[in-house]
Amino acid sequence: MRVLGIETSCDETAASVVEGRAILADVVHTQQIHVQFGGVVPEHAARAHTEKLVAVVRAALSEAGIERPDAVAATAGPGLIGAVLVGLCYGKALAAGWGVPFIGVNHLEGHLLSGLLEDPAPEFPFLALVVSGGHTTLYLARALGDYAVLAATVDDAAGEAYDKVARMLDLGYPGGPVVDRLAQGGDPTAVELPRPRATGLDWSFSGLKTAVRQVLQKTERPVVADVCASFQAAVVDVLLDRVVRAADETGVRTLALAGGVAANSELRRRAVALPGMTVVLPDRKRCTDNGAMIANAGRLHLEAGARDGLDLGARAGWQPA
Ligand code: KG4
Ligand code: ZN
Repeated sequence: MRVLGIETSCDETAASVVEGRAILADVVHTQQIHVQFGGVVPEHAARAHTEKLVAVVRAALSEAGIERPDAVAATAGPGLIGAVLVGLCYGKALAAGWGVPFIGVNHLEGHLLSGLLEDPAPEFPFLALVVSGGHTTLYLARALGDYAVLAATVDDAAGEAYDKVARMLDLGYPGGPVVDRLAQGGDPTAVELPRPRATGLDWSFSGLKTAVRQVLQKTERPVVADVCASFQAAVVDVLLDRVVRAADETGVRTLALAGGVAANSELRRRAVALPGMTVVLPDRKRCTDNGAMIANAGRLHLEAGARDGLDLGARAGWQPA
């Protein structure tokens, strides 16, 4: 079954075609309009999706060498509601026009199942750490559609903390990739930063961001690379601390990383070095938002017999089941 996947929940206009685990096409257009604002402006995102989506879908179909797929999957949430609506409505219209099945996909489930596109793929049950600009959640994936939240952030997402620290340092948006790059030339022990803890396994990143701000206010000429490296060390410490504790508590020792922050070189380096754990790292371009993860999650549910009607609505907030 060749499935077209459409993703428009934030600032990537993306479409992909998968057939089983093979990715036949993967087209991602990252909107540039937000750079001048230092963050994603929802209304601009929705408008830019309407301008680009038809071309992106056409490019994906042509790259896959097909005129129409056997089914259509589109992100139905969570995300910026106007942005989600563009891809969801277009996906439903395409499916109706072609007379093929349609399924709405939870964006977070798309991320958490993206490891299944890798070879070797994780086997259920596995832990999935979804770290992006909007979410920081550790799931126990027991089976397709059966997920438990083991840990989540009580305030900022890890990617959001990266973006805010980058803004403090005037490094532009999105902040993650540039902080990651600069950190490689810095000393991670140079700046003392806290390793904040919320209750249980949950994370809190707003205190860490504030600690960076205070360091910058107190220091006359901060070494940017050292600040980046120290901040990054603190983020990776707390992310992996909860993963290790969750693995001990559940006895599940397979971990799949997902979401934009899973592209982070330090997180990847230290995750694969975790003793006793099997770690699945998605290809970097499949960490940030993409259509292949939506096509993949849609394909798995379609193969399990699921279908959605054309009355399916968009949802701004939505935890995968
Ligand atoms: O998954 P994603 O593309 O979009 C959301 O669903 O949020 O994640 C984007 C986030 C941004 O906050 C960006 O700064 C962060 O992922 N990010 C990174 C890296 N690449 C992207 N954070 C740290 N290191 C990176 N290399
Ligand atoms: Zn995402």
